[in-house]
Amino acid sequence: MGEDYTTFEKSGVTQEEILKCSFSNWCDLFKDHLFPYRVINPLPPTFIDYLLSDGIKLATKQTRLEQTSDNEYSDWDEDETDNSDPPHLKFIHLHDQISKYVEKLGGKVIPKLNWSSPKDASWLLPGNTIKSIEANDIYLLLKSSDHIVDDLLYPFSEVEDPKDVKVAYELVLKKWEDINPALEFRVFVKDGNILGISQRDLNYYDFLKDLEPELNARISKFVYNEVIPNLKVEKFILDVYIPRPFDKVYIIDINPFSRKSESLLFTWNELLTRNPKDDNEYEFRLINETNLAAFAKKQYSESQVPIDVVGAANDTEALINLAREWEKLQTKDGSISP
Ligand SMILES: Nc1ncnc2c1ncn2[C@@H]1O[C@H](COP(=O)(O)OP(=O)(O)O)[C@@H](O)[C@H]1O
Ligand SMILES: [Mg+2]
Repeated sequence: MGEDYTTFEKSGVTQEEILKCSFSNWCDLFKDHLFPYRVINPLPPTFIDYLLSDGIKLATKQTRLEQTSDNEYSDWDEDETDNSDPPHLKFIHLHDQISKYVEKLGGKVIPKLNWSSPKDASWLLPGNTIKSIEANDIYLLLKSSDHIVDDLLYPFSEVEDPKDVKVAYELVLKKWEDINPALEFRVFVKDGNILGISQRDLNYYDFLKDLEPELNARISKFVYNEVIPNLKVEKFILDVYIPRPFDKVYIIDINPFSRKSESLLFTWNELLTRNPKDDNEYEFRLINETNLAAFAKKQYSESQVPIDVVGAANDTEALINLAREWEKLQTKDGSISP
């Protein structure tokens, strides 16, 4: 039975729910189900200012004198008046801590703030990944991501009547794991019930069909026995990962039940009009041969080209600036190669 039109259902997400989904507010509850991580909290205001400032200036290992040696780009630095020092001098303690934690976590991490990772900026790093091996990778990703800007400036934009709360911002560094995206699933939970489970990576994997009953049973048990009773949040979106041999469920993330989160193989209207009567009244949706084409496009809606690039394409000066930042980045130490 198809309806000709639907009304726009609001998610009803509350400020309290959003705050409870901040990484540090739930990570301790599920330590046994998380890959190794470190949280740096609170972040110094100088670092937040740096993240929100225009342009991308990275930490340098060389002195200014060497940087401005005779090359065709030497006038760039001279043009800059207030920015001559490498930015990390303003948050040197944090910088050292990041470097230390990256090393402790095995030399490869993915960065996040309270809610989001900068995955929309992955195109900036070689290999189109947010896998970071040093502080500069992390700065570049965080500074270039619209998701990060949203965390910093508009975390409660979907809340009806937000109070003026000050968010304690945190940097989460998660140890890089070689995750098989086929085995990542998103679980929508409201009022103690699962509303639906969706494959997270919207590619077709033919082996998933046979695994579905086992995966479903594992996830359902974990959500009803462990997550719902311990988390105590009315509604939320849980991202899980179940690697072979499927005997353990890992939590990748717990997200606010907000339209900002991708509904994947469901529609938000579908989720919001659902009213399950018992624990098992939900669908476990996978990409199959039939719906593959319909969802192929959606896959990329989360990681559109950042607005900077769109802007730069219409603005010569912005384009030149972007090219300069890029050039600096390629040399890694921030110096300009001849
Ligand atoms: N520890 C990790 N190692 C490698 N990849 C990861 C790790 N954690 C998450 N990912 C990958 O990054 C994606 C986004 O991570 P997630 O923490 O959910 O960020 P976001 O909340 O911004 O979506 C996940 O779908 C997963 O594929
Ligand atoms: Mg998330």
